[in-house]
Amino acid sequence: MKLKVFEAQQSLANFAAQHIRNRAEQAIGNWGQFSLVLAGGKTPELAYQRLATLNNIDWSRVHLFWGDERMVPHTHPDSNYGMVERSLLSHVAIPAANVHAIETAGMTPDSAAKNYSRTISTYFDSVPETDGLFDLVLLGLGDDGHTASLFPAMPSLKESDRYCVGTPPGRLPPPVDRVTMTFPLLNSARDVCFMVSGESKSETLREVLEGPTDVSFLPAQGIHLSDGEIHWYVDTSAASALCKVYPSD
Ligand code: 6PG
Repeated sequence: MKLKVFEAQQSLANFAAQHIRNRAEQAIGNWGQFSLVLAGGKTPELAYQRLATLNNIDWSRVHLFWGDERMVPHTHPDSNYGMVERSLLSHVAIPAANVHAIETAGMTPDSAAKNYSRTISTYFDSVPETDGLFDLVLLGLGDDGHTASLFPAMPSLKESDRYCVGTPPGRLPPPVDRVTMTFPLLNSARDVCFMVSGESKSETLREVLEGPTDVSFLPAQGIHLSDGEIHWYVDTSAASALCKVYPSD
């Protein structure tokens, strides 16, 4: 695990966008494709806007997925797809077939999760050279310690087989059901980047990184990679409660 602290959210976003570009170049060079799982919420939006300005990414070889989605229409202001559409998709020439959104229209959380699990399986089957591993997963951290839509004390935390599950909301807004990727899928990634900013996350970040392990209470602690690297990109406000010194990117 590596942690890098940034003075401003924009410098965090710029660094994260560059990391995404570097991983894309590496993956495309290795197996002709780059699979990127996008985080929702507000923090990553600046990074996606910055990513859209980088002109040395072959978007025809990039495949986008979502780590979680709110059960609202993609046009709804709370939609993670909608946030990515505004900040990234509407600015880059990525083929529609490479954009693997979590479909929510006319679905229940469970049927949407089953449908998305099939979408993921179909992708991995179509590119066997990727060994069924996402190249990079982006994640955020909620004040309650959740990541993706893996909320404290929810059954989703115990899922050991399915790629995705439906889940009720946690205590943080928006109060809508979700679809979320599960730990087995997220933890099979080659690389994970958390992006965390703001004073409100500082105590939670300290507990996640420096407190006792209790995944049911702090689901973000459930993210660990057997081979890959977990990068924490945090701003000075979010890092303000940390006591330890960490290896840096
Ligand atoms: C979501 C996200 C969620 C998010 C955290 C942090 O759908 O809300 O996937 O896991 O990353 O809640 O959100 P902010 O970046 O908005 O603080």
